Amino acid sequence: MTKLPRVASDTFWVGVNDHETDLFEALWPLPYGVSYNAYLVVGEKIALIDAVKGHFLPEHLRKIREVLPPGRSVDYLIINHMEPDHTGALEVLRSVFPGMTIIGNNKTLGMLEAFYGSSSSCRQVQDGDLLDLGTHKLQFHLTPMVHWPETMMTYDGATGVLFSGDAFGGFGAVDEGLFDDEVNLEKMHKEMLRYFTNIVARYGQMVLKAIDKLRQVPFTVVAPTHGTVWRRDPSMPVRLYGRWSAQECDPAVVVAYGSMYGNTYRLAEAVTRGLTEHGFRPLVHDVARTHASEVIADIWPRKGLILACPTYNTGLFPPMEALLAFLENKLLKHRLVGFVTSYAWAGGARKTLEDFAHRLSLEVVEPVVDVKGAGTPQDLAQCRLLASNLAERLSQ
Ligand code: FEO
Repeated sequence: MTKLPRVASDTFWVGVNDHETDLFEALWPLPYGVSYNAYLVVGEKIALIDAVKGHFLPEHLRKIREVLPPGRSVDYLIINHMEPDHTGALEVLRSVFPGMTIIGNNKTLGMLEAFYGSSSSCRQVQDGDLLDLGTHKLQFHLTPMVHWPETMMTYDGATGVLFSGDAFGGFGAVDEGLFDDEVNLEKMHKEMLRYFTNIVARYGQMVLKAIDKLRQVPFTVVAPTHGTVWRRDPSMPVRLYGRWSAQECDPAVVVAYGSMYGNTYRLAEAVTRGLTEHGFRPLVHDVARTHASEVIADIWPRKGLILACPTYNTGLFPPMEALLAFLENKLLKHRLVGFVTSYAWAGGARKTLEDFAHRLSLEVVEPVVDVKGAGTPQDLAQCRLLASNLAERLSQ
């Protein structure tokens, strides 16, 4: 009898935990690892729903074999998402299960050619199509651009499980527990927000469309391709992703600063202190020493953002420039921003920040504090005025 987690009757988790990859997409740190969730639905026909990264094929295969009834094989591989963290094992799986039909939509099949040189033994499905496994009947819901063009979800009407692909996923391995009733929810929410902001955030509008479409689907379990499976509160990941996708914010502040010699830090500290005196508890990040992955995740649910940094070669301090490039790429909106900049002989940081705000239609709270040299008591007073004005706007 297998010890593999059962997501529903005859539906098993056959995914893997990855504690070896240090950077997801070679960009985003994985301090708690990541899981590649795959599921085996064992009916009269057997369907594997998503697969894993190629490197983890042996463990994946061992788990599939542990669940497969004697003499049976995998009849279908359903690809909800083509990205190689879920399809890297595909070519070998095809050779191990030669009778397996791959199920995807028209976008999936084009990508199969591009990534693996073949789309033979594939069946193309349309939105709403059903795949009859006997007891289990799988229905496909196309949810494009969450966060690739081919993304779709698969719903099993017999068990109420929604296999949601990357949507509703999170960072963090699931070896501490697969289900939402088994894990530390605070830690898991944090890793989920970091996953959402790092990977999916740019496509928030498409996530909202997908969520709208799911109103017709009576799911009772949400089983994504990364992280926790939600069985106690399956509406929770939908609410969280909905809120983050709509960029709904709390009246709270992140202060993100960079400082080469401590002068800009003192200015940022004055703004922070001012905010604290107005009853806020700002989160402060040194952008040169905290990975953008964490800073972005802290910025996302907060309405207020202070950016403080020196001019560097007439432009922005490079770590701040990198952070802003990510924020712009993720289409940050609806924020109140305050700027504190400094320079030695020629400015540049101020204009770059103002252009950033203009491009994203962010409201700039006055005054913009642009300081030559180390900063005077008057400059510090301007920082406090900025804090006061931001606090007032956030309280409205
Ligand atoms: Fe988990 Fe977008 O791949």
